[in-house]
Amino acid sequence: MIVTIDGVAASGKSSVSGGVARALGVPYVSSGLLYRAAALLALEAGVDLRDAPAVLGLLEGRGVRLEPLAEGNRVWLGQRELTADLHSTRVDKGVSAVAALPDVRAWVDAQLRLLPEPFVAEGRDMGTNVFPQAQAKFYLTASPRVRAERRAKERPEDIPAIEAALTRRDEADRRQITPAADALVIDTGPLDLQGVIDVILSTLPD
Ligand code: CDP
Repeated sequence: MIVTIDGVAASGKSSVSGGVARALGVPYVSSGLLYRAAALLALEAGVDLRDAPAVLGLLEGRGVRLEPLAEGNRVWLGQRELTADLHSTRVDKGVSAVAALPDVRAWVDAQLRLLPEPFVAEGRDMGTNVFPQAQAKFYLTASPRVRAERRAKERPEDIPAIEAALTRRDEADRRQITPAADALVIDTGPLDLQGVIDVILSTLPD
């Protein structure tokens, strides 16, 4: 079984997916972390974020691997763990550029499709492109202000700066943020984390 949870930036996808996955006793898969790893490697190597062959070369040549654990996903570059470096403001800013590269998207999609079922997959295009066959699909939204207030707990910038950056990223990601036609769209604004998890669990097929 595959459950997909897509949504806009900072809509709570990772926390919700983790909660749903733990309730189901399955891992969750954070596709965004692979795009973040691509951005981090390109930034560290001084490679242009729009240079598809160079970014793909870094991903393929250096053994980037996603470890999709139920308690939190980890990303490895050989023996080096990248996870703690993937949520910096620098990576937030650069990630949409590498995510726009079709070759990078194809590489990420191929990694995800190798994973053994069952799992909960979260990102932007899990229900549309990567796992269109998923048994249950959800799409999380919230206003930019609500999302910025949530993310302010994880970033050093103030709420207006975070809101502006999130809005820019939604715009840069616009190609991959259309909900699947068969996804249940959930406005997470009025709900807390457990509230969103409960809505999803209560609508899952047996
Ligand atoms: O949690 P947040 O929405 O901030 O980020 P994320 O899910 O880790 O995704 C980071 C970036 O990766 C997004 O802004 C997209 O550019 C890209 N992404 C994508 O293009 N497709 C996906 N399935 C997941 C992420």
